[in-house]
Amino acid sequence: MSDLHSLVENTQATLRRIADEFSPAVFASSLAAEDMVLADLILKAKLPIGIFTLETGRLHKETLAMVDRIRETYGHEVKLYKPEPAAIDAYVRQNGLNAFYDSVDMRKECCRIRKVEPLNRALAGNKAWITGQRRSQSTTRAELAVQEDDAAHGMTKFNPLADWSEEDVWNYIRANNVPYNALHDKGYPSIGCEPCTRAIQPGEDVRAGRWWWENPESKECGLHVVDGKLVRIKAVAAT
Ligand code: ADX
Ligand code: SF4
Repeated sequence: MSDLHSLVENTQATLRRIADEFSPAVFASSLAAEDMVLADLILKAKLPIGIFTLETGRLHKETLAMVDRIRETYGHEVKLYKPEPAAIDAYVRQNGLNAFYDSVDMRKECCRIRKVEPLNRALAGNKAWITGQRRSQSTTRAELAVQEDDAAHGMTKFNPLADWSEEDVWNYIRANNVPYNALHDKGYPSIGCEPCTRAIQPGEDVRAGRWWWENPESKECGLHVVDGKLVRIKAVAAT
């Protein structure tokens, strides 16, 4: 079991270092539990780090409600980045509104329009960005580091919760009375867009409800590219 107190201290130190040495830096918040831990740490320490959300146009109302909860709780306005309307219109006209169920390529194209392109706009002009990714979330994150060189965006990327377990996240939220997305109490440990996220059954993998119709290896949306690759599956020694 990890010691939450030292995890929090280390994470606070990382965030302070980002603010001191990597300014301007921004935090990409999906408004899910991990990202509320980071928002709480950033906003309570009054660090000069902007917070943004990629408002894909397909988020749950419970997720969008967190923008208001953050304003009410911390007096901070989360900046929203939306997809280009013309790109959405063209995709929907050619393929239909829910074509992401048809193939991995169609799904990735929807994620590119609704998430990846707006992310590029959100990151422009910054030295570093911060995510709430954790190593134990998925096979695709097995080798995640706290600090990475994000060559794709030409900046440094920080995953300050890389070492945290899901239990650490929830212990922090409860101990500090951090507001969280109501969907977490309805069987959603991991939350993305509404049509691509469903509740999981007890015992299922935490990301089993994300793009549930795809193989675990393809379940990344294109936001997190390292060394030109989307996945960081731990290399298995040849036998
Ligand atoms: S992902 O596949 O959608 O990226 P996940 O929901 O586990 O996976 O999110 C991982 C991290 O990506 C989040 O902690 C956050 O930093 C960033 N992220 C994901 N979705 C969004 C979003 N809609 N807006 C801003 N950041 C996001
Ligand atoms: Fe489109 Fe689904 Fe990706 Fe959201 S998660 S951008 S709805 S494919």
